[in-house]
Amino acid sequence: MTEPIRVVVTGAAGQIAYSLVYSVCKGDIFGPNQPIVLLLLDITPMMGVLQGVVMELQDCAIPLVKDIVATDDPNVAFKDVDAAFMVGAMPRKDGMERKDLLKANVRIFKAQGQAIDKFAKKSVKVIVVGNPANTNACILSKYAPSIPKENFSCMTRLDQNRAQAQISLKLGVTSDKIKNVIIWGNHSSTQYPDVAHATVEIQGKVVPVADAIKDDNYLKNEFIKTVQQRGAEVIKARKLSSAMSAAKAAGDHMHDWFAGTQGDNWVSMGVISDGSYGVKAGLMFSYPVRIKNRNYSIVQGLSLSEFAQQKLDLTAAELDEELQAALAECAD
Ligand SMILES: NC(=O)c1ccc[n+]([C@@H]2O[C@H](COP(=O)([O-])OP(=O)(O)OC[C@H]3O[C@@H](n4cnc5c(N)ncnc54)[C@H](O)[C@@H]3O)[C@@H](O)[C@H]2O)c1
Repeated sequence: MTEPIRVVVTGAAGQIAYSLVYSVCKGDIFGPNQPIVLLLLDITPMMGVLQGVVMELQDCAIPLVKDIVATDDPNVAFKDVDAAFMVGAMPRKDGMERKDLLKANVRIFKAQGQAIDKFAKKSVKVIVVGNPANTNACILSKYAPSIPKENFSCMTRLDQNRAQAQISLKLGVTSDKIKNVIIWGNHSSTQYPDVAHATVEIQGKVVPVADAIKDDNYLKNEFIKTVQQRGAEVIKARKLSSAMSAAKAAGDHMHDWFAGTQGDNWVSMGVISDGSYGVKAGLMFSYPVRIKNRNYSIVQGLSLSEFAQQKLDLTAAELDEELQAALAECAD
């Protein structure tokens, strides 16, 4: 029998976690034969709600689940974990200044980074979903210095999935026929969804997405804007932020980190920049990556048009500014 892996989900009483934990438990992410010990972390006032989630998970009667631990103590939640979904974060409330939001999140991710440093396996793979996801992931890694920086990431897979979905709707093909869309930069409205290297399979033939769409103006304007603003559109319609799609994307991200990417294809992940594509080293920047044996490598050598370079510069500048502001809060 395979040893169980230990998986923590933070923000476990929230709406993304509600979809995510089911997916983790039923084998979508770590495989249909991989037993799971699930650790659920939320804040003390949410322990009652979290108990409800635990009851429902028990009632799902999933054989892969060996144990469920619900706690408000990070030292318990991160004990020996192999994979961490960092979903919990301080949400922006009405009238809250950006600075206050950053400060609150620095506090949360500092404490959780320290707990990961002390208690998690050194091989733990961490995805930060809670916003501002890129900067939160940097802070987490800063306070977990005993764990390689390459083990920390943030989620831009939802943006990738949204971009793929837009192309698939436009061309009338299923989304699996579209490969190698890229999200560059910040998980914010400055992100750059890029299809310059993407392909689509139409009637058995693989062609560049740009050749299939034949509308440069659409790809440079409406397409980019739709993907950048999709989260805001969902909030407007649902009065709640994306949850089902965010949980699916978090699962896709971790699945590919554990299982690897297929052939020459790549996926987008926020990872620590090593200076690739002229982005300042140390920023948590979304890049195209290939994954093998649970290690990712940033895809190198892709050509960037002047238009693309400008978009990369813009999102990198925003990330740098956000990180500097967060680091200033760490000094307190
Ligand atoms: N990266 C992405 O693509 C993406 C997409 C959608 C949402 N998000 C972000 O994901 C986060 C969660 O979204 P949601 O809809 O589930 O929110 P939610 O408000 O429903 O749930 C968040 C949960 O986090 C908990 N929490 C707060 N502080 C915590 C702490 N210190 N430790 C543990 N838990 C804590 C809250 O109590 C709550 O239960 C938000 O920050 C949201 O902006 C990111």
